[in-house]
Amino acid sequence: MRCFISVALVTLSTTQPVWASLGDTVSTDVPQYVLEYAPLVWLHSEDTYMPSDIQQQLDHTRPMVNWTSISGVPSPLTLNNLDALNNLGNESVYLTSLEGIEASPEPAWFRGIGPDPEGRTVNGTASAIIVVHRDDTTVDAFYFYFYAFNKGGKVLGLEFGDHIGDWEHNMIRFASGKPDAIWYSQHARGQAFTYNAAEKKGKRPYAYSARGTHANYAIEGTHDHTIPGLNLPAGFLMDYTDRGVLWDPVLNAYIYTYNTTTGVFQAANSNDPVGWLNLNGKWGDDQPPNEPEIFGEAKNVAGPNGPKFKHLDRDTVCPSKPCIVLPVRTFGKEVPS
Ligand SMILES: *[C@@H]1O[C@H](CO)[C@@H](O)[C@H](O)[C@H]1NC(C)=O
Ligand SMILES: *[C@@H]1O[C@H](CO)[C@@H](O)[C@H](O)[C@H]1NC(C)=O
Ligand SMILES: *[C@@H]1O[C@H](CO)[C@@H](O)[C@H](O)[C@H]1NC(C)=O
Ligand SMILES: *[C@@H]1O[C@H](CO)[C@@H](O)[C@H](O)[C@H]1NC(C)=O
Repeated sequence: MRCFISVALVTLSTTQPVWASLGDTVSTDVPQYVLEYAPLVWLHSEDTYMPSDIQQQLDHTRPMVNWTSISGVPSPLTLNNLDALNNLGNESVYLTSLEGIEASPEPAWFRGIGPDPEGRTVNGTASAIIVVHRDDTTVDAFYFYFYAFNKGGKVLGLEFGDHIGDWEHNMIRFASGKPDAIWYSQHARGQAFTYNAAEKKGKRPYAYSARGTHANYAIEGTHDHTIPGLNLPAGFLMDYTDRGVLWDPVLNAYIYTYNTTTGVFQAANSNDPVGWLNLNGKWGDDQPPNEPEIFGEAKNVAGPNGPKFKHLDRDTVCPSKPCIVLPVRTFGKEVPS
């Protein structure tokens, strides 16, 4: 049994003033290196869909099953009681936008919070860090990024893959306190690199968040990606990353541990809400009925489920096998611009 005595973050490195400014406590189950090595995220210079406050998603949506409001929903719905929805529809619950995904003008809350010059999402928490102790030496740190809206790509001038609610993540596997490898989520898949291969600012790897889709890449430039389940020609569908605005997710993050045996999330401090992590429903609207599809894909698609569905219990740094950990960041399907 681990102990959860809180310790103040006082012995912080002077080269990382970031930690000193956290002004919070973390449990001994959240090693300081999880914060010291946390990725920094470059948001695209032309992306209008910024990281978003997680609670805000609840304020602008109502839970529905099959496009019908459900009764018995706690009021107000908060990140502490969100898992009450599991008894009111479970996986079929969709946090459905009050305005609708096609609302015009577009609801301002889709746009999230542009980070300030220090990288903060002021007055909003758009990140959750989840620490998994796999064994005595292996620690997996998941860095989750939340965006209110995902703008999909275009194929032959047709837009598809828009959805409300967007969960992305990096994961760093630590071995005896040293970062070993890093995972970048990209659509239904992603890429893994050695920690050494990652581009970094000091100890902290950069993730490049693609314009609109927020897929995470290890380098800036143009990236082709295939649609899951479809075998389109390479270069058919592109993601774009650049050094637009630097987001430091750690500055506004909730921090947790997750026990893979019990499936229990525990907040690292007494303030961070826990219930939302147990939600089995989806973070945005369902796919609208009769949405026309092209190549099996629709313009508006269903919102995603949350962090607990992103394979928090992993054998390797990748969510599935085979896991290829690339030793050079320019390997893989990325194309320099
Ligand atoms: C997970 O919970 C089990 C059962 O309470 C406990 O034995 C185990 O030590 C916990 N694991 C971690 C990593 O805390
Ligand atoms: C969803 O609602 C539609 C329209 O009310 C209805 O025809 C359909 O049977 C419902 N689907 C389910 C799975 O309940
Ligand atoms: C609710 O959803 C979860 C997650 O998908 C699933 O494991 C569980 O079996 C579901 N519960 C019921 C009662 O259907
Ligand atoms: C943040 O919240 C405070 C208190 O409500 C408010 O005074 C301030 O203007 C807000 N800042 C931003 C950037 O929204």
